[in-house]
Amino acid sequence: MTSSPMKLLEPLTLGKVVAPNRVMMAPLTRCRSGEGFVPTELMAEYYAQRASAGLIISEATPVSPFGHGYPNTPGIYTSRHVAGWRRVTDAVHARGGRIVMQLWHVGRISHSEYQPQGVAPVGPSAIASDGTVHVPSGGRVAYPVPRALETDEVVGIVEQFRIGASNAMDAGFDGVEVHGANGYIFEQFLRQGSNQRSDRYGGSVENRARLLLEALEAVVKEWGPGRVGVRLSPNANYHGMQPEGAEETFSYVVERLNELPLMYAHIMRALEPEESKLRVNTPIAHYRGLYKGTLITNGRLSPKEAEGYLTRGEADAVAFGKLFIANPDLPNRIKLGGPYNAPDESTFYSAGPKGYTDYPTLT
Ligand SMILES: Cc1cc2nc3c(=O)[nH]c(=O)nc-3n(C[C@H](O)[C@H](O)[C@H](O)COP(=O)(O)O)c2cc1C
Repeated sequence: MTSSPMKLLEPLTLGKVVAPNRVMMAPLTRCRSGEGFVPTELMAEYYAQRASAGLIISEATPVSPFGHGYPNTPGIYTSRHVAGWRRVTDAVHARGGRIVMQLWHVGRISHSEYQPQGVAPVGPSAIASDGTVHVPSGGRVAYPVPRALETDEVVGIVEQFRIGASNAMDAGFDGVEVHGANGYIFEQFLRQGSNQRSDRYGGSVENRARLLLEALEAVVKEWGPGRVGVRLSPNANYHGMQPEGAEETFSYVVERLNELPLMYAHIMRALEPEESKLRVNTPIAHYRGLYKGTLITNGRLSPKEAEGYLTRGEADAVAFGKLFIANPDLPNRIKLGGPYNAPDESTFYSAGPKGYTDYPTLT
């Protein structure tokens, strides 16, 4: 039991949204959408169970049929998707919660089996990610070489995010988070190793950042000020992301974010040396110094460690992933000092309620 007041449990205004605490639910892909990638009643129950989060950030949600790279990930590009997500947002709001949608395009982190008509996935350049992809026909295979997008198609990606953002508004969300992290399409453009384009979307840092900034601008136009967040992972090397120039690239991006009336920036913290094999590991305090708006950080943090980030002023809020999977009432458990249910990794990406809606609350 702890009785000392915690910053994690203090309210926070993020743009137009007032969160009753700073314990955010991180975006978590759970692969449980229904036929046609439509959100289900079970998903509505899962999110509603977690409505006491300061803010729920939804699982990554493709804005286009070409944006999928995993099984059963719900979309936001058809009217059935909008209706399905409306059930989710209604259920969260009925429980007094707040929820934003994480807008997603996987780019090259896909396989022709996930693509309409079995075409090749797209990316900034014809460079495959290292690692392997799970395919619906069974097993894992090497990531394919993507087809490099033509310049006018890159503009089309911006349009897909604009439409996805507009659909998310129709579905009753409180805002959106553009997924610029974890090696998906925006980070593929940002990093030198995956982007060897010679048009205005490749080469200099200004050019590599152009797609993300154009998409953010388009999404902010749809939603207005204080309703759009962005997630970045400058310190991660997921999906073949290369570290060369990362600090320079992400410092530029984060400074440019100040020009937009965003709801927040959500930036993964630097991992401790023993947690990370990365050569580049820039402390979150560096990005805190560059960003003038509301900052959420995350990454394998216990509530106690998270509290340290807030009291040191290195972030305004913390997003928890695995802890929220296993503890639907996480803010209350933090208030009481635990105990915490342990997450069952074998059900992270499985089907049905097991390991999804059956974790107990304390009361
Ligand atoms: C099952 C699972 C699914 C995830 N899905 C997403 C996702 O859809 N979008 C995203 O940005 N990050 C995703 N992540 C990363 C988490 O949001 C978070 O950054 C990561 O788990 C580290 O935080 P944690 O230790 O608090 O879980 C996922 C992580 C897990 C474990």
